[in-house]
Amino acid sequence: MTFAAFLPLLAGAKARAGDAIPLTPKWWLPESASTFSHKVDTTFALIYWLDVFFFVLIIGAMAWFTIAYRRRSKDQKTSPVKGNHALEFAWSFIPGLFLLSFFGMGFVTYMDMQVPPADAMDVRVTGQKWNWSFEYPEQGLQLASADGLVVPSNTPVRLTITSVDVLHSFYIPAFRTKKDAVPNRYTSLWFEAKAPGEYQIYCTEYCGDDHSRMTSKVIAMEPAAFREWVAGQKSASASMSPVERGQKLFTAQGCAGCHSIDGSTLIGPSLKGKYGANEQLADGSSVAIDDNYIRESILTPNAKIVAGFAGQMPPYQGRLQDDEISALIDYIKTLK
Ligand code: CUA
Repeated sequence: MTFAAFLPLLAGAKARAGDAIPLTPKWWLPESASTFSHKVDTTFALIYWLDVFFFVLIIGAMAWFTIAYRRRSKDQKTSPVKGNHALEFAWSFIPGLFLLSFFGMGFVTYMDMQVPPADAMDVRVTGQKWNWSFEYPEQGLQLASADGLVVPSNTPVRLTITSVDVLHSFYIPAFRTKKDAVPNRYTSLWFEAKAPGEYQIYCTEYCGDDHSRMTSKVIAMEPAAFREWVAGQKSASASMSPVERGQKLFTAQGCAGCHSIDGSTLIGPSLKGKYGANEQLADGSSVAIDDNYIRESILTPNAKIVAGFAGQMPPYQGRLQDDEISALIDYIKTLK
């Protein structure tokens, strides 16, 4: 691979699905699946192999000189050479050119990654301990971590990312893109999946107990299949009963991450068989689990903390409509 072979990539040549990544074999980096991932890999590979070259050259020369010019007798004198301007200029100027070309490559790729095309499809991403949720304002849909982030392939997608609790970071290794999810602020990133497929999403900011399980998937579909999928989702949600709607919200809003429905204890108490029972609270009192208690516990979870649990739930005040809360209560009632 010569330097000249990198030049079309520098100039922003569009990647094709079958593009091989120079000098980065398959086992080396994750799959390269977005329109700019090959540029990131190329920059990385160029810097990496140049570093290897100079490491071998400099350490090799140092080792050789140590042996070849070792002190052989007690009265040996050191070299009288004080300096060599041509040599000093060369070893500053040539690496300087390399550094400038790295900057050029990095800058071009960075700008490409920062500026989404104007026709990009919008998706809102919300991070919350410990799941992601995805809202499609143009399509009127909402998905949970477990559903994945469904997108059309060969279509630019712009994500507007935020968090409702602590810092998270939204990372898609196959697309070579990552952005922090920050409470009270919006950040954004964009990508274009080169081909249909499933690509892993990770949280890469340590955010508490279940940080390592805060994962999801990008599911890229052909644009026609995506349109069909959207239509299918919309007709399914239009015909949903309140209980089904509550069940969907239960995963989409992240409740399922902390509350089991099978009696097992996760971060929060299980909701199995709770409706109509009494709950022992941390302050020693008890409360009947009815609609009002559930509503209060969703909107202001720390008002009444269940004995044996730390108040870790984020308040849902302002995040759920009344009919959504009612649907959740209807669903919780069915968990016998
Ligand atoms: Cu969210 Cu780590």
